[in-house]
Amino acid sequence: MTTLSTEAAVVAPAERLRGELVVPGDKSISHRALMFATLAAGESRISGAGDGDDVRSTAAVCRELGANVERVGADDDEIAGRAHPTSATVDYRVVSPGVDGLAQPAVDLDCGNSGTSLRLFAGILAGLPFRTVLDGDDSLRRRPVARIIEPLRAMGATLHARSDDSLPPLTVFGRSPLRAVDRWTPVPSAQVKSAILLAALRADGRTTVRESVATRDHTERMLRARGIAVRTEQLGSDDADGRTGAVAISVEGGRTMTTIDERVPGDVSGAAFWLVAAAIHPDSDLLLRNVGVNPTRRAVIDILRSMGADIEERPTGGPEPDATDPGVGEPIADLRVRSSELRAVDLGPADVSAAIDEIPILCLAAAHARGTTTIRGAGELRHKESDRIAGTTDGLRALGADIAADGDDLRITGGHPLVGTTVDSLDDHRLAMTFAIAGLSANGQTTVLRPNSASISYPGFFADLGRVGS
Ligand code: S3P
Repeated sequence: MTTLSTEAAVVAPAERLRGELVVPGDKSISHRALMFATLAAGESRISGAGDGDDVRSTAAVCRELGANVERVGADDDEIAGRAHPTSATVDYRVVSPGVDGLAQPAVDLDCGNSGTSLRLFAGILAGLPFRTVLDGDDSLRRRPVARIIEPLRAMGATLHARSDDSLPPLTVFGRSPLRAVDRWTPVPSAQVKSAILLAALRADGRTTVRESVATRDHTERMLRARGIAVRTEQLGSDDADGRTGAVAISVEGGRTMTTIDERVPGDVSGAAFWLVAAAIHPDSDLLLRNVGVNPTRRAVIDILRSMGADIEERPTGGPEPDATDPGVGEPIADLRVRSSELRAVDLGPADVSAAIDEIPILCLAAAHARGTTTIRGAGELRHKESDRIAGTTDGLRALGADIAADGDDLRITGGHPLVGTTVDSLDDHRLAMTFAIAGLSANGQTTVLRPNSASISYPGFFADLGRVGS
């Protein structure tokens, strides 16, 4: 039984976990589908988009820039954002004048809590010849922007931000054309890579972005699907800079996007909560329908399997195995997960990058695993919606886990039964959901403070929790 109020969610331990779930549409893909529909002239349809607050923020910014973004089948209250439906997905119809018809907005662009909106729009706006201001809530105002200011300045745009150009609000004076560049991203970040690639579409030649560790490739796949050639090259250990696991992504400037109809798969980052919930619970069997299993996003599944999780994967869609360009489209699968005996794992910086949003819930898995799990090089977690190293260690430790942070590394020794208590989500959606899942397998009641942040990526999360737990 779960009771939910604005202040707190009270989660009682579940005797069993059973059922089928449709998780929200993938947040990363939903943002990009709306943005790319705004950049393409004509009508685009998006089905199965995530309906969390972050994707709504992107839709609102697209409207401010001049696109007509309609929620298909939604009533007027929902369109105005007054109601908060708990359905997992929403469909959109976008009609846009295209990138050259977008107009300077009359107001500052409010990205809410969404780092992806702020970083990717900065890349888009860098190539549009007017001034805009990107802003957001208190959490977004604490998130670093120097990492995008620096490359976009090198491309010829003018950008300024608060606190010595380090924090939002971010003012962008775009320029067209921009200068093509060839550069390494300052940190492995799909948001930074995507900002540069989107600016590169308005540059005067071929731009190459190099990253030391490959990050999620939705931007590349979705650009290809819209008629833009994007080349991805693995950089071997013989790379001039001696980096391994690195990739170079290049795109030619002066290209325009075509409209397409996009079907958004389920969000593997939302599915991750149920994968861990079922794996750590002694009596569970959950089926998660149509989850995106893109190779650059599925690390959480593979890490859990390497810990001994019983996860069955049945492909249900995506590109044909012999497709001429395997980098177009998103592979999709049903995932069935059952009670498992977990063992500890050692994760390094490449794993952290590949499962960047899943580290808090993986820490909960580690707290239920035999042995000591180490997670090295997790410093980027400090720059998310909250400081997730501090938030995860404080919350799980309060619940009785043996977890400690040492600089950018985490160490979790499993096998200490968790005991329900009051934990603070810090208004961070992934922490709110991690602690609620912990409560399903803890002894006694777990009270999660500020639980509504779950609606950032998963508005129906607590309804789903009530549905599968009994
Ligand atoms: C995202 C990239 C990731 C991730 C975020 C979504 C994206 O951020 O944490 O939730 O859609 O590109 P970084 O790649 O900047 O770490």
